[in-house]
Amino acid sequence: MKLTIIGSGYVGLTTGACFAEVGHEVMCVDNDASKIETLRRGEIPIYEPGLADLVTQNVAADRLSFTTSTAEGVAHGDVVFIAVPTPPNPDGSVDLRFIEKVAREIAPHIDSYKVIVDKSTVPVKTGEKVAETIQRYAPDAKFDVVSNPEFLREGSAVHDLMKPDRIVFGSNSDRASALMKKVYEPFVAPLLVTDINSAELIKHAANSFLALKISYINAISEICEASGADIERVAEGIGMDSRIGQAFLNAGLGYGGSCFPKDIAAFIAISEQLGTPFTLLKEVQKINAHQLDRFIDRIRKSLWVLEEKKIAVWGLTFKPHTDDLRSSVAMELVEKLVVEGAVVTAYDPKGMDRAAALPIGSRIRFANSPEEAAVGADALVIATEWPEFEHVNFPRIRESMLSPILFDGRNLLDPTTMRKFGFDYHCIGRPKMD
Ligand code: UDX
Repeated sequence: MKLTIIGSGYVGLTTGACFAEVGHEVMCVDNDASKIETLRRGEIPIYEPGLADLVTQNVAADRLSFTTSTAEGVAHGDVVFIAVPTPPNPDGSVDLRFIEKVAREIAPHIDSYKVIVDKSTVPVKTGEKVAETIQRYAPDAKFDVVSNPEFLREGSAVHDLMKPDRIVFGSNSDRASALMKKVYEPFVAPLLVTDINSAELIKHAANSFLALKISYINAISEICEASGADIERVAEGIGMDSRIGQAFLNAGLGYGGSCFPKDIAAFIAISEQLGTPFTLLKEVQKINAHQLDRFIDRIRKSLWVLEEKKIAVWGLTFKPHTDDLRSSVAMELVEKLVVEGAVVTAYDPKGMDRAAALPIGSRIRFANSPEEAAVGADALVIATEWPEFEHVNFPRIRESMLSPILFDGRNLLDPTTMRKFGFDYHCIGRPKMD
């Protein structure tokens, strides 16, 4: 099929490449000319495992092309996906100006029947607004609007798109539904077709439920610390119930990233606008913030004063296998340490260039390896669970530090081994065996 993706960011580009990989003819549109140039040269502006190869192969096979022209894009696709950013407003609600702009821009170019698919994460009832807008600017246009939420995770986006748990779309038209089923025919996954409002709600409800699971286990981790129980055993025990499941029960510094914090704030905002405030989610936010605050309290308790303390921080990205720093708890931690006067030396396998470019970047020292970051440090903090941090020479690292205090904010390491190596080891919700 001929498909168009408007917005070649994280979701748009990965979706476009995967659609091309299964045989569709995909045109990706973006109004950022330099990004389109980069993509045409075969370079990928983000780090996502497997994506670069997929883009190169499908460009070479003539199934994937890039343009800055919305007119060209709309002319190409029978199905036009909108995958533009939906950033937060200061009050947590979603700024839908890019969605509205795309709806306005595509309207005059619709000269045959098109399915307009919203893939960006939007509050419930946005589909109705998109349809109204297109209708207003092109009263004769023949089209249907569909909501098709995306559930990919950064770091495993290609896998998640090629082998999804489920495909959900919301449509109020049989003609549009038939075309959408054809788009997804090559993918082997259960398909759920709903009305537009339900599909939009599914996305916010799914993300907030996952965040709730994380905050739930983090709240229990605090009770474990107070009682001497072990969060890993508790998570294992409750996760063995198939109704609960093991996934997303890893206690740590809390959730971050471009989706959870934003989507939860947006879900709270839309629930309030609808007159049905979802207050439970405010507690989820509070627990998430508290988890970092109490971790920093523990660092303070050990070091007494943070000013002038050399702190090595391993991990800056919001999770491993990405270079994304958006709403990264690790970055928030670094910022708080720096503001209190600590001298932070950071190492991250993929996130250092982006971190250096941020305003806080000039106040962080960057190391070439985890080992280098730890030299002369008063304490070492693990803020993101990159697997390579497990495989360093800890006895040597201990020797190189000024004092061997280790704060493992992601429960990456084994407490018994770390204490055997001579570290004063702190972690989340696991008993302290002195
Ligand atoms: C998330 C959703 O998983 C995905 O379906 C949606 O499309 C976009 O939002 P993503 O933000 O890429 O994906 O990352 P995810 O793997 O879900 O992790 C989000 C955050 O939760 C990370 O900061 C991670 O460290 C944290 N997390 C996750 C935990 O703290 N504990 C867990 O058990 C799982």
